[in-house]
Amino acid sequence: MRLLSNLFDNNRAWANGMKARDGDFFTKLATQQNPDYLWIGCADSRVPANEIVGLLPGELFVHRNVANLVVHSDLNCLSVMQYAVDVLGVEHIIVCGHYGCGGVRSALEGERHGLIDNWLRHIQDVRDKHASVVNSVPDPGRRCDYLCELNVIEQTINVCKTTLVQDAWLRDQALSVHGWIYDINDGLLRDLGICVTAPDEIATGYASALAWTREARD
Ligand code: CO
Repeated sequence: MRLLSNLFDNNRAWANGMKARDGDFFTKLATQQNPDYLWIGCADSRVPANEIVGLLPGELFVHRNVANLVVHSDLNCLSVMQYAVDVLGVEHIIVCGHYGCGGVRSALEGERHGLIDNWLRHIQDVRDKHASVVNSVPDPGRRCDYLCELNVIEQTINVCKTTLVQDAWLRDQALSVHGWIYDINDGLLRDLGICVTAPDEIATGYASALAWTREARD
């Protein structure tokens, strides 16, 4: 199993299938990519970005990390965002979390897993910021799903507050920032009701998304 030949077999079959649909597919892709969207999602193997939204290679620029965090000083995520916005000119940044997120659950319950606990500390900040409402949800599963939603909302706002998104808006570049959540139980996406297209929409977008999640809990 050193060569993982099953994966290479799959790859050949996939490439042949793509070429059967469009003989020039890879030739065209090799010369340029022109995605309209940047996806910031969880690394969870059950949340494959392109497949969920039915987009082909070349159509979605993707950054994934544990629990779809946008940390102000994370050069990896910031570099992806800067390239997507400044060079590729994407028009939409989508922060997509998912229900049943193991990272969010670990953060909520204070489980210890090692180094990653420091990364998940950012979710605990979200948990602590919204402690009174999070703790008011009696069912542990629903409480975790609620924190998954709150985490998306906070990370969406973090995207909006980056210098590169602020600068894009300052130069009147069309750029919308969205907060979505994916349900691994039914394969469906839900819009958390936050879509920010300008600096003066951050506060109202944040408030409406928080109201959406609260109503969804009732
Ligand atoms: Co996750």
